[in-house]
Amino acid sequence: MVGRPVSRLEGKLKVTGAARYAAEYDVPDLLYGYVVNSTITKGKITRIDVSAAKALNGVLEVITHENRPDVASVDLKYTDMDAPPGVVFKPLLDAEVKYNGQPLALVIAEDFETARYAATLVIIEYQEEPFETCLDHNLEKARKPEKGLATMLKPPPPPPTGNFEQAFKDSPVKVDSEFRHGTEHHNPIELFATTTVYEGEGKLTIYDKTQGTVNNQLFVANVFGLHYKDVRVLSPFVGGAFGAGLRPQYQLYLCVMASLFLKRNVRVVLERKQMYPFPHRPQSYQRLRFAADANGRLTALNHLAISEASQFEDYVETVAQWSHKLYPAPNTLFEYKLASLDLFTPLDMRAPGGVTALHAIECTMDELAYEASIDPLEFRLRNYAETDPVTGKPFTSKALRECYMRAAKQFGWEKRSPAPGSMTRGNKFVGYGMATGIWDAYQFPSRVEAMITQDGKLVLNNAVTDIGTGTLTVMTQVAADELGMPMENVTFNYGDSKKPFSMFQGGSSMTASTGVGIVVAVKALKKKLLKKAKDIDGSPFKNVSGEDVAFRDGSIFLRRSPSVSVSFQEIVAANGGRPVKTTNMGAPHVLKLRKYAKATHSAAFVEVEVDKELKMITVTRAITAVAAGTIINPKTARSQITGSMVWGISKALHEETILDEKLGKYMNQNLAEYHIPVHADINELDVIFADERDDLINELGVKGVGEIGLVAMPAAVANAVFHATGKRIRELPIHFDKLL
Ligand code: MOS
Repeated sequence: MVGRPVSRLEGKLKVTGAARYAAEYDVPDLLYGYVVNSTITKGKITRIDVSAAKALNGVLEVITHENRPDVASVDLKYTDMDAPPGVVFKPLLDAEVKYNGQPLALVIAEDFETARYAATLVIIEYQEEPFETCLDHNLEKARKPEKGLATMLKPPPPPPTGNFEQAFKDSPVKVDSEFRHGTEHHNPIELFATTTVYEGEGKLTIYDKTQGTVNNQLFVANVFGLHYKDVRVLSPFVGGAFGAGLRPQYQLYLCVMASLFLKRNVRVVLERKQMYPFPHRPQSYQRLRFAADANGRLTALNHLAISEASQFEDYVETVAQWSHKLYPAPNTLFEYKLASLDLFTPLDMRAPGGVTALHAIECTMDELAYEASIDPLEFRLRNYAETDPVTGKPFTSKALRECYMRAAKQFGWEKRSPAPGSMTRGNKFVGYGMATGIWDAYQFPSRVEAMITQDGKLVLNNAVTDIGTGTLTVMTQVAADELGMPMENVTFNYGDSKKPFSMFQGGSSMTASTGVGIVVAVKALKKKLLKKAKDIDGSPFKNVSGEDVAFRDGSIFLRRSPSVSVSFQEIVAANGGRPVKTTNMGAPHVLKLRKYAKATHSAAFVEVEVDKELKMITVTRAITAVAAGTIINPKTARSQITGSMVWGISKALHEETILDEKLGKYMNQNLAEYHIPVHADINELDVIFADERDDLINELGVKGVGEIGLVAMPAAVANAVFHATGKRIRELPIHFDKLL
């Protein structure tokens, strides 16, 4: 089944409404919480009057900082696996207001409408304080991030090499450019929601919108001082998350608090506008100075990146060093800094750091190619890294050249005339732009329970979520192949913290992580099945070894005499009817991989049309070629890439959360004013998967496709806009007013 375009197994459940999301579980005697958010950005609550709200018929309680129950620890640093350095913010602790929209009270009522109405009756008076929310005004105060667990996955830039300043000065071809990105919010269609079932003293079953069931189990147990085993988090269906579900969100905290306080079942659903005082892609400033010699070989790379952090946590991304993972250069200087602002902590959003960096890097490369009078694709080929330029190590695999060549050919790059504005179609300028993409190839440990049940079928258990990526389908394909069984006889149970460990779904890591877990567990299961088969009276396998047998269609048979077989059902029956099962850990081969560099790569080619008078921009077609190792399911993988490409177009041309720095508040907190592309904005998209075989990276040879399709797109669009118009717009999104 691996390599086949299998349709999503849960597709029918989703489109018919049978799939249940966190706010859709039928729970008896349910109470509904509605959050009251702050209307100021910074200061203190001087008075909070809940009497009118509480007097309303149907309202049970209003929880504020004045009457909240105790939490186990107010200053815990590592409440969850994704907590950045700092003290994790928890609502309702005290009278301090640290950001606009901060949750200040939870009204709990017998129905949602009553709770929402009662929330309007809560009177809060504040003493306001001055605040800073604009990154651009605070670049001066940027400093190095605090160190912490997060910096292990997101290492700081490597130390400088050579002498950047001298080399930059001496190089004949150079570019010095600044890039600015505004805030972006994840905006998944499913609203963040939690339903808690109070199971008795200190015991909770929680339906939560999250990318990580185990992560949120850990958070709830840590923060509320509950036993780990008494907290169960379920999240089988997730209606998009894009990183917003990597960390527990405030509705979970408030819902659990209410449930423990009232000893009742509670549901808290956020409204769209309540998902803006939320984690987000940070505002960023970048300055890049790249130089090359007369032959178009890079001599010097400097990348300074500054992002926003909150006042309480140092969220970090990998931004500054990506150029040197793509292109060799003898002189490098990479810097990454943070400026703390009075906003909530940012969080990973699809290709965090990477898409921010690659936009700047690949636009700068385009500028440099023009400075050197070299075709932009040729310029990248001249600077192609055969080995990792940072460490000198070989890549486990790298089919980027194939990506460039196949995508360029299909796109028709050779038809491009280099001068800006030289290609037209009627009243439109036509622009061709290209860019390179790179992303890591992560793998996390993942434990999988595999068992053969009485009916001879395979059941697998793992805590991983499927955030819409196709994980259920892909895992079922992997397991089916590993055991030689049709997919319909394989059941993969997931999205439940009670199942064996999985990290949250993120970082394009899950196919490798849980996929390898499945391979390891099913291999162990096969050994166990053979052993059990040998134990059967008169077993034909008494003296055979593992190599002598094969597994197919629910049976073990002798390779040289396939008619000799024992079915899984017979083995389970001989096992007293008890399932034959095993639990195993799949993990990255850390020691072996130390000798290698690893990355996924992509190349994006984009055509834009720009209206000559109005400067309206349309992406008329785009092709992305991706090198990500083995593609388990070309249908779901393609869908990951096209989804990313749409987002790349969105980032380049549409999407932005507008911050009013005088109010310290996001102003377009709804999907009408937070612009994302609609179907009419998206034309022809195509995806090519390079034939990349990687026997080193992991048992499956997979590297992940969740983020690699996004990283190259914004620069490819911006470069196409330059080619069409001759204008370098280095601030995203490129709205037509900037071109006018
Ligand atoms: Mo993500 S930003 O890989 O959830």
